[in-house]
Amino acid sequence: MSIQWFPGHMNSARRKAAETMEKVDLVIEVVDARLPQASCNPMIEQLRNARQRPCLKILNKTDMADPVATQAWIEHYNAQKGVTAVALSCKKPSDVARIPKLAIQVAPHRGTALKPLRIMIMGIPNVGKSTLMNALLKKRVAAVGDEPAVTKTQQRLYLGNNMVLTDTPGMLWPKIEHPSDGLMLAASHAVGSNALIEEEVATFLADLLLQRYAQLLKARYGFNTDGMDGVAVVEGVAAKRGFRLKGGDYDFEKASHVFLQDYRSGALGRISLETPASRAELLATYQST
Ligand code: G4P
Repeated sequence: MSIQWFPGHMNSARRKAAETMEKVDLVIEVVDARLPQASCNPMIEQLRNARQRPCLKILNKTDMADPVATQAWIEHYNAQKGVTAVALSCKKPSDVARIPKLAIQVAPHRGTALKPLRIMIMGIPNVGKSTLMNALLKKRVAAVGDEPAVTKTQQRLYLGNNMVLTDTPGMLWPKIEHPSDGLMLAASHAVGSNALIEEEVATFLADLLLQRYAQLLKARYGFNTDGMDGVAVVEGVAAKRGFRLKGGDYDFEKASHVFLQDYRSGALGRISLETPASRAELLATYQST
């Protein structure tokens, strides 16, 4: 599946982001800890590198990600030049309270009343940018919602008297290069529900979970996954929940929806859809074809 999702406002968001990049000292890039690389926007790195701005990379929603995979990602990103990575949950006040200090550590040449640290918060839709802003400022300043692209205009806000925050509209790149990235983003709801076919996404997710988290499927739905493929898992969900069409066939659409909801809500457990190793494998596959 290739998801083409490029609303008009994304173009102007890119232009605005490039302009703002000139005027900031630090980029806080928010990604989803469950799929950190698939939820990175390559545009952000390009814009940042062009201006040589340091990056505090926040692997957010770590409460829902696999802690072992998250640790591997932190090490992976911390090995990159100009990047400091941290895993946290923007819904946890004690996690958010760590961010100002980290920001000053990453860009120590600013951060006084006279020279406030100018920070730009970036990331694709639905990774938690608004939640982060609200938590940092301890008030509701941006719309938070589970439908992507809720944050559409740029905001500039003072954090104490030594930091200024600017966020940018969520940006997705015009073409998702690897189909599996599109499916991972769809599974985690970074692309809107109208742009995806839930059955296809659910089957992809089930196949992926069978490889790495079969025990969680078993724990949630109580069936033995031996010999199953993704379709069989979704059918298994339909059977367990009694989702049947008139005539008795499984209601695959309804089961797909419920299965995706279970993943998105965290009911299946802490799951990461990719690791640095699986990413390297994916890239090797694409390079060899
Ligand atoms: P955005 O600005 O990047 O588009 O994302 P936004 O803050 O709107 O967050 C998208 C969804 O992710 C929201 O869920 C938000 O609550 C959730 N979220 C943000 N940070 C975390 C986190 O650290 N952990 C978890 N588990 N979820 C997080 P929602 O269901 O739309 O809103 P709500 O009902 O949770 O308020």
